[in-house]
Amino acid sequence: MTPRPPAPGVGAAADEVARVAAAAPDWAALAVVASSCVACPELAAVRQHVVVGDVPVGRPRLVLVGEAPGAQEDETGRPFVGRSGALLDVLLAEAGLDRAQAAVLNVVKCRPPGNRTPKAPEVARCSGWLRRQLELLDAPVVVALGLSSAKWFLGPRTVLAQVRGRPHDVGGRAVWATYHPSAAIRFGPNGAPRAGLLADLTAVAATL
Ligand code: URA
Repeated sequence: MTPRPPAPGVGAAADEVARVAAAAPDWAALAVVASSCVACPELAAVRQHVVVGDVPVGRPRLVLVGEAPGAQEDETGRPFVGRSGALLDVLLAEAGLDRAQAAVLNVVKCRPPGNRTPKAPEVARCSGWLRRQLELLDAPVVVALGLSSAKWFLGPRTVLAQVRGRPHDVGGRAVWATYHPSAAIRFGPNGAPRAGLLADLTAVAATL
């Protein structure tokens, strides 16, 4: 048996994390090694769980990618289980999508203190995990929820309003960037983000 590479240590550079992630032969191996990653010392010091992500049995046709875990995700170790997750579940169901058949991931796997936006070096260090997760899952369609996720896929100058509503080819996958459920909560049930998110999820459902 090939020995498993050790998890990235304190302050490990992005390319070191990427090397370890790329060596994971399957989802289970990646989850084990990612769960002990301490590359981002500020996040690792206060997290309860590394929120690796939820995956269905078998190859998903759809991957949802958020920004980073919040308090409830950190507590439970599962993505999108707090208020944003509850709204996401409602909108997925309204759009005719089944969360149980989708993979649910985040750009950054550890909760940023106070739910601040992840810093660029944290996104860079965590990117190797997401890159390998996308490779392993090999889903044809990705929905990037919110600006951090949209930027990860479409580049740092991305403006959400300019890119949403249509798929973008990223390495052969159809990437849809749309509002984060937290924006839909912030602007209320009659706000543009909720309507836009539902419209985008409905458009995605029509392609599956
Ligand atoms: N917000 C995110 O971006 N991801 C989660 O998992 C929860 C809230």
